[in-house]
Amino acid sequence: MQDEIGHPYNMVPQKAFLWGSGGGYKWGATCGALTSAAQIINLMHDKETSSAMINNLYAWYSQEEHPNYQPEGQVVTSVSDSVLCHVSVSTWLAASGVDESDPLKKKRCGGLTADVVKLTVEMMNNHADGNFAAMFAPAATVDGCMSCHKEDTVGKDDCSICHEEKEVEHW
Ligand code: HEC
Ligand code: HEC
Repeated sequence: MQDEIGHPYNMVPQKAFLWGSGGGYKWGATCGALTSAAQIINLMHDKETSSAMINNLYAWYSQEEHPNYQPEGQVVTSVSDSVLCHVSVSTWLAASGVDESDPLKKKRCGGLTADVVKLTVEMMNNHADGNFAAMFAPAATVDGCMSCHKEDTVGKDDCSICHEEKEVEHW
């Protein structure tokens, strides 16, 4: 887009996105593929549209088996149930039985990033054609838990991955 369209895209330095790797220089917070895609979506659309797209992207990311993009076809897939790099990477490492420093981990996160870019571009193209519709929503537990806890906390990650014991009635 920087080459084909020029302004304003040529004003966005790629360096602005590097901090996202490892969920913020390895803090394991939100996956850097998502933060980068969300920044682009947000730059190009109004608040209501970007919020709908980012919600769809984050929900899909959490529920999809990644990575889909596997040019060499040797990477184990996993579902993260979370947008957090910490949860996403740890779940995948456990599923694949390799260490963080294994080259397969780079392939996994690279493939995952390609998955995120693909959905982001599809959503933006659909929106440009006037037919973007959200296909994904946060896990059903979120609505259930938040019906009582929306004044106590904030978030849309699947509550049960961290508060498993709270799935039984506790009130
Ligand atoms: C019907 C209402 C209701 C629902 C639904 C509900 N909770 Fe609660 N939850 C409560 C009440 C009431 C307490 C006790 C509040 C207190 O002690 O201040 C509580 C306490 C908690 C606590 C301990 C924090 C605290 O303030 O003591 C956590 C964590 C929690 N709930 C998580 C969840 C999760 C996760 C879900 C969904 C799986 C959920 N809750 C669903 C009503 C609910
Ligand atoms: C990635 C892990 C994680 C996820 C996902 C998560 N929580 Fe929490 N939650 C925590 C931690 C850590 C705390 C603070 C320590 C504690 O109280 O357990 C906390 C605290 C809370 C508290 C206050 C507990 C207290 O003692 O006052 C509530 C209520 C709560 N979470 C509800 C939710 C709900 C509802 C969801 C889903 C929308 C959710 N959490 C998702 C990790 C998580």
